[in-house]
Formats: sequence, C-alpha cells, structure tokens
Amino acid sequence: MSGDGFVGGPRSLSAPAPGWTATADVVVVGSGVAGLTTALRLRAHGLRVLLVTKATVDEGSTRWAQGGIAAALAEDDSPDEHMADTLEAGGGLCNEQAVRVLVTEGPDAVRELIAWGAQFDTDATGSIALTREGGHHRNRIAHAGGDATGAEVSRALVEAVAADPGIELVERALVLDLIQDSRGHAAGVTLHVIGSGTRDGVGAALAPNVVLATGGFGQVFGQTTNPYVATGDGVALALRAGAAVADLEFVQFHPTVLWVGPLAQGQQPLVSEAVRGEGAVLLDDAGNRFMLDVHPMADLAPRDVVAKTIMRRMRETGAAHVWLDGRDLGADTWVHRFPTILAECRLRGIDPVSDLIPVAPAQHYASGGVITDLDGHSTIPGLYACGEVACSGVHGANRLASNSLLEGLVFARRIAEAIAHDPRPISDSAAPAISANDRDSGVIANSMRRRLQQVMDTDAGVLRSRDSLTTATESIAVTMADPASGGRPCTEDWETTNLHWVAYVLATHAAEREETRGSHWREDFPESDPNWRFRLVSTLDPSGRLLTERRPPQWLPRSEQ
Ligand code: SIN
Repeated sequence: MSGDGFVGGPRSLSAPAPGWTATADVVVVGSGVAGLTTALRLRAHGLRVLLVTKATVDEGSTRWAQGGIAAALAEDDSPDEHMADTLEAGGGLCNEQAVRVLVTEGPDAVRELIAWGAQFDTDATGSIALTREGGHHRNRIAHAGGDATGAEVSRALVEAVAADPGIELVERALVLDLIQDSRGHAAGVTLHVIGSGTRDGVGAALAPNVVLATGGFGQVFGQTTNPYVATGDGVALALRAGAAVADLEFVQFHPTVLWVGPLAQGQQPLVSEAVRGEGAVLLDDAGNRFMLDVHPMADLAPRDVVAKTIMRRMRETGAAHVWLDGRDLGADTWVHRFPTILAECRLRGIDPVSDLIPVAPAQHYASGGVITDLDGHSTIPGLYACGEVACSGVHGANRLASNSLLEGLVFARRIAEAIAHDPRPISDSAAPAISANDRDSGVIANSMRRRLQQVMDTDAGVLRSRDSLTTATESIAVTMADPASGGRPCTEDWETTNLHWVAYVLATHAAEREETRGSHWREDFPESDPNWRFRLVSTLDPSGRLLTERRPPQWLPRSEQ
C-alpha cells in the first residue's frame, strides 16, 4: 500500500446548512441511461424514487452518444464472442465475472429498453440493424436515428420516467456530499438546487439508499467529447465519503474527434467509430493509410491502438490532426446514417461527401470510477454506483466501443434488484460538517479550472511519463493546499473542487502505474508489464491522505451490507 499522497482539505464541500429536506426510499443522482433506468427499475419494485440531476433531465452524456449499444443480438453472434472482444480490449484488467454479467444480461436489457419505447434503426427485413465498431469481430452495435442513438435512448427513458408518478424529478440540483449515519452507512445526499419555492438552495435528500449515476469527468481535460456537466461530482463525493475508487488512470481518448482548430476548448464534436465501421479510413497528411501495418483490424483496431497510432503519427509529422476519408460512403449513407456528424461538419465548412475530415484524439470516457461489485454496491453500505461513474470491472484498461450504454442498462437492473431485496430503514443521519464561506474549507475557485485542464492536457493526457506526472500531481496538490486558490460555496467552485480531487487521484495512479496498458500510455515504460496485472484502488483516510492498494482484476469489493 502506498500512502504518501496528501490531498488535504475537509471531507465535505463545506456547504451551508441544509435549508430543506426531502425523503424517499432511494435517491438516484443523475439522469443519463444509468440513472433513468435505475429509477424505472426501482419503480417496478414499488419503491419511491427521488431522481436528482445537475442540469435538465436530458443534459448528461447519454444524449451525445452516437455509435450505439453493443449486444449479441444477431443470430451469428453470441455472448461468448462479445465477452472475448470485451476482454481483449480491456488489456487484461477486466473483471471476468462482471463482463459475463454484461454480455449475458445485455440482450434482455436492450429488449426492455425497446419495451420502454426506444426505436432502433432496422434493416430491410425489419430486424434491428447492427453495425461494427473498433475491437468488435461481429456486427453487434444497435443504433438509432443513424448516429443519434443516445438522444433516442434518452428520449424514451425520459418519457417513461415522466409518466411515472412514483418518481420525483429535481432538476438543477448539484450533488454535494454523502450524508452518512452513525455507522457510516449512506443516509442521503446534500444538494444545491437552483430552483424556486421550498426546494431552493442547499437541501438534504434523505434516503437509506443512494445511487450515484453522475457520469464521467471529461472536463478534467481541456478537450473532451463530454458535455459541460461532466465534472466528476460522483467520484469526488464518493472519495470524500471514504468509498474506494479504482482504475482512474484509464482515461479513454476517442481517436476521431472533429478537429476544429488549435484553440478549441471544452466539448468537441465526435465523429463516431461507426463511420469507420461503414468503411471510412484514416490518412496522414501525405495520404498514407497508416493503420494498415499496425493491427490486423487496421482502422477498426481497438480504440486505444488507433488513438495511440494517430498521436504517434501527429508527433512524427508535426501535424495538428490526421484525416478521416469517408468519401466512398456516398451522399446517401452520410445523409441517412450519419445525419448528426454531417451537420456538425457542414456547420464548419467541411462536406464529408467530398472532403476529408480533420480529426484528432480527445478525452472521451472514464473506464475507472467508484469501485462496485456485481450488484453495484460500493464499499459504503447503502451507496451504489452505476454507469460511467462506476468501476464495475467491465472495461478494464480500455472500454470496448458501445459497451457503455449497455453497462448502464444492465447494472441498473441489478442495483434495483439488490435494493429491493435489502430494505433499509431510514436511520439517524449525521449531516456533514458545515463551514460556509470558510477560506480554509478546501473549496477551490473556478478561476483555477483552466489551469488544471492545461496541466492535465500537457502532463497527464494521452502521453505520460514520470516527469510529466510528477509535474501534474505537484501542481494539483499545490493548488489544493494554497489558500490563494480558495473559492466560495457556489456551483462553479464546487465543480472545480471536484475536478481537482479527481485529477489528483488520476495523476497519482498514472504515476504509480509504470507500464503501458490499454488507454494508459507511458512514454518511459512503453510495454505492458505482466507484473502490473493489478488494479489500483484508492481511498482517502479521515485526514485526507490518499491510500492506494493493488488488487488483482478478479477482486470485487465488499461493503458490510
Ligand atoms: C462512437 O460512436 O464512436 C462512440 C461510441 C462509444 O464511445 O462507445
């Protein structure tokens, strides 16, 4: 166990005392595929749900998902084959039991989504049309609206949730801290709501079960496909509460994000892998197909292989991007299969029907997060995590394309089952410590956010080394300890604080992992090391010290349930 990292600061976001309370059987935090599905499945068990979400109900990452949902739905496919591809992409660090759950329960979960109203694209025979993405040896990606799968999934689930009077939705509610009872069990969360009437300002949502479904933390980096709400709130909350997090160093960079100029910041337009699945190819400035000699699957190699090869080629040639050639797809395919990408490109004066598309890697997905067992339990009793905020073990060192919506669907069902079969009374709650407006509170000013992103891009992004990671961890730790970085209790500052906590653990893990594996690429350790077939699992001790342990991939956490 290593334990010399000291983040410092109190174990809460130091919000003012809750001015209102709400109660439910379960508080679900987040309204992407994981949160919405959890809420609906809990209702099937008759439980009262408070669904809280940071912005409006459809503003999370789910609606931006283009490619689709991977599941062994075709007759010539099987869960075993899906499992083999998932394990291969995961670079030896997947939890095989979790992957088995994902691939065997996946097809049913997709059918249930269809029963809730999601409409997938169909082929000429009326069956669900299936395409291919990087790392898949079969056509198994179901898609909707061409390249608007996430938007359709979100629409169907939001409508189903709205139709259920047993789910109370609270929008514009930033989750702050976990409320724990005297035994340390989850008892609810504190929230900051920008609302009106009684639910305004800081409040407490009390429930014996809390499900985190807050999505990813792409805003840790300067360029990401994630929306502005992806600030790692769930991972940071879990850390502060004492839950274990794992695999944070495995940050997936999507190989083909539309390159919109050297000064681009924030959310960037994705160009789905499905474009390559339909036949587009990558070219360098000289027009060479550089993926051909790199991997037997060439342009459809697993995502980390393609992203690394693009970065290498950009470094060798000094180019700011490479090119995606989808001209052979033809106008009809572009219009009907990829309407979203076509519109994004044309908005910027690029016509993919006749032009090459400039693309470069950008942050896309967090494979790590709050470590959970096969039923979504975290290491804190009553606290669950689902979807991108969770580390269920299905992704290992690198997520297979289009496994993320599936993970949300499958594990939401399991979490709802687990909660329904483990009724917990509401217990004595101990609200988190309160020190509003205290400059020593550990809240970091939003003015520090851009600097953090620059550090992470330069020193902990696609290319990493001992020197760069030392720079990153030191710089983050200095900011976190510096009273001059102190912020106020407000949404932007709380988010910036969360980004720093997540970034610190990410960079610490990346520094400790002295090898290259999956989406973690060390320039000074360019090979995978069999001695490193471990996951890094971290917790904060009560004084704010980061404790990191090595666990075998098949290890599952246990909370005293
Ligand atoms: C894509 O469409 O390329 C993204 C799909 C994913 O991230 O799984």
